[in-house]
Amino acid sequence: MSNSTLVHPDIVKVLLSEEALLARIRELGAQITRDYAGRKLLVVGVLKGSLIVMADLLRAIGPGVDVHVDFVAVSSYAGAASTGTVRILLDLRESPEGRDVLIVEDIVDTGLTLTALTETLRAHKPASIEVCTLLDKTDCRQTPFSPKYTGFKIPNEFVVGFGLDYEERYRQLPYIGILRVS
Ligand code: IMP
Repeated sequence: MSNSTLVHPDIVKVLLSEEALLARIRELGAQITRDYAGRKLLVVGVLKGSLIVMADLLRAIGPGVDVHVDFVAVSSYAGAASTGTVRILLDLRESPEGRDVLIVEDIVDTGLTLTALTETLRAHKPASIEVCTLLDKTDCRQTPFSPKYTGFKIPNEFVVGFGLDYEERYRQLPYIGILRVS
């Protein structure tokens, strides 16, 4: 076992192994390749959580799609005080106007972030806008939001790894694990 695959002591359970994650991301890439065949696609990663899934998903999209890549960073909403709007900390460099846009996110929880982000981007009049999320905690929704592409539906547990963090830690873990609550 290499150093990177040793299970971190703060992880109580590995929910999704690297092999399972990569296999599912390849399936999503194949589906996206079929859906957008012969088209241009602006793939927008939501920083920082999407960084690992973006790297793997992009490599799983075939050459039949003309892919452009961009990133946004948004401020997280403040729990119950949420207004359902997001503050864009880093904006797109490419204009989404008239483009097919695919937002890539690490996890959908309440759905508030992606609802607000898709609405914000919709104001720029893209030709289409869809969401691909690696993980979905469907039990936690506070707004009716369903991504077109979902890697895995997971239970309401706080998970880290594969780009997801707790206070900026654990992003490098190559699996999705349930964090020990101390
Ligand atoms: P939503 O607006 O509640 O859907 O928020 C989604 C965001 O909350 C994600 O982009 C993550 O930053 C964060 N988040 C929600 N659940 C988890 C988790 O289990 N682990 C790490 N981050 C999470």
